[in-house]
Amino acid sequence: MQMFREEIIRLLEANVPLDTEQIAAELETPPNPQMGDFAFPCFKLAKTLRKSPAAIAAELAEKLPESELFARIEAKGPYLNFFCERKKLAQMTVESILQQKEQYGRTGIGKDKTIVIDFSAPNIAKPFGVGHLRSTVIGHALYRIYQALGYRCVGINHLGDWGTQFGKLIVAYRMWGNEELLEKNAINHLYELYVRFHSEAENRPELDDEARAWFKKLEDDDSEAYALWQRFRQLSLEEFKRIYAILGVEFDSYQGESYYNEMLDDTVKMVEEAGLVSQSEGALIVDLSAEEMPPCLLRKQDGATLYATRDLCAAIYRYQKYKFEKALYVVGADQALHFQQVFTVLKKMGYDWAERCLHVPFGLIRFKEGKMSTRKGTLVLLEDVLDRATELAKEIIQEKNPTLENKDEVARQVGIGAVIFGDLSNDRIKNIEFDWDKVLDFSGETAPYVQYAHARICSILRKAEGWPAAYDASLLTGDEEQAVIGLLARFTDMIIRAAAANKPSVIARYVVDVAAEFNKFYHQCPVLQAEPELRNARLALIDAVRQVLVNGLWLLGIAAPEEM
Ligand code: ARG
Repeated sequence: MQMFREEIIRLLEANVPLDTEQIAAELETPPNPQMGDFAFPCFKLAKTLRKSPAAIAAELAEKLPESELFARIEAKGPYLNFFCERKKLAQMTVESILQQKEQYGRTGIGKDKTIVIDFSAPNIAKPFGVGHLRSTVIGHALYRIYQALGYRCVGINHLGDWGTQFGKLIVAYRMWGNEELLEKNAINHLYELYVRFHSEAENRPELDDEARAWFKKLEDDDSEAYALWQRFRQLSLEEFKRIYAILGVEFDSYQGESYYNEMLDDTVKMVEEAGLVSQSEGALIVDLSAEEMPPCLLRKQDGATLYATRDLCAAIYRYQKYKFEKALYVVGADQALHFQQVFTVLKKMGYDWAERCLHVPFGLIRFKEGKMSTRKGTLVLLEDVLDRATELAKEIIQEKNPTLENKDEVARQVGIGAVIFGDLSNDRIKNIEFDWDKVLDFSGETAPYVQYAHARICSILRKAEGWPAAYDASLLTGDEEQAVIGLLARFTDMIIRAAAANKPSVIARYVVDVAAEFNKFYHQCPVLQAEPELRNARLALIDAVRQVLVNGLWLLGIAAPEEM
């Protein structure tokens, strides 16, 4: 769409008192194609020109010279609507996609800018639950979305690897720990110890004192305490990494909470020097009553630092290290207050970049009863979810395509894709009711639906003898063809929109739309059976659809199997 955009700017620049950037910023995409491919709203001009927006739009429609890129330029109320020349739109879109391949959709608008994305961040020695799944898949998609816009992305896994719970864990492990169980399934065993500690401590409060003492030892670098902690951390991390590998997720840094231990005294000192610290019952706090928030806790009575202290420290550290354009924290909505407090303290400390720190919240996920049994009652384990998804996908594939060769691999791609998409297709702030039948429905708004459209195209292309071949995309002027092309041409706009709102759901919706529009087209228009010239043009079109589906699914972290 870039060339069309530039042409509009060229046409308008000579006729309105706005410069290139101002015009570019105003240009909109109309809600439906009947209203054109671009709309230029005239509200802003109304002030300077002292005329009604509608009058300005009408005048411009008269005045603008003809352009070979646009079939029509029409005023509609306060908008000036541009209709792309169908042949040109078809040619430019299909040709750029087939030339640029996996690069199609990418831009350089984020060049030389860094986005720090804090995501996933599970807690050591605790099972990787589905809550962390949300952060993981949303954060990972945002990472790729920003990357596609040319930003340098830094993915940070701010592991929950420090805190008083490690004192409890050490006490529990020394009493009831079992080396063999730890080796076999560390997180499981550690979690059991943790649960057992809590139930026993109810009747034996001295256990809590012991735990506190062991945490103190840990903080003071006691070698036994440190070695145990280190081991718990290492084993947990290995299990998390196994899950990340299944999901295809990577991080640039695993600097978790413990990483900041040595820096926290300085952080507290800096907040003190900014004149923000007061004492409350022996604890150090930043009073935020002027901002109508509860105080931000920096240090407990016993001197221990807190979650917020570590986040303040981490933010300052990250800014120094990365000079980020934006820092995103992909964390559940239940931590909204925490981040508001942290960002406010940073602002009060005088850091102007605090404005560029952003909490990207999301709602809860709940599993509809039935097909998912949970090992521990209320806790749903991510791994069980992924295994279940793969199993169900395999059953479906078995039924639909019994002769498929690499069934296991495809079942994994489809099952995991369904889980990821079942999350990302929702507006992130909403709570999700996860329903197996829905996320695996091949005809619903699901990953399998999109993957299936993709596989179908691959199969058509395999059957097309002599393809790839020369083609003339200007033949693709029919309504169904144009509807597909119009969508394909908007891919970059969608990536920009997804990033602006930090919503991968924009891309999820988009790939479903592309798949649906393709299905409509394919239903109406023969491809392999068409006249040779049209056949080749249509093959080029579906090849372009295939590429955009691959690129779109990639942004979401979902595979696109060629057969299923
Ligand atoms: N470990 C935390 C939790 O599970 C999430 C950490 C999020 N990141 C951060 N910088 N606070 O709730």
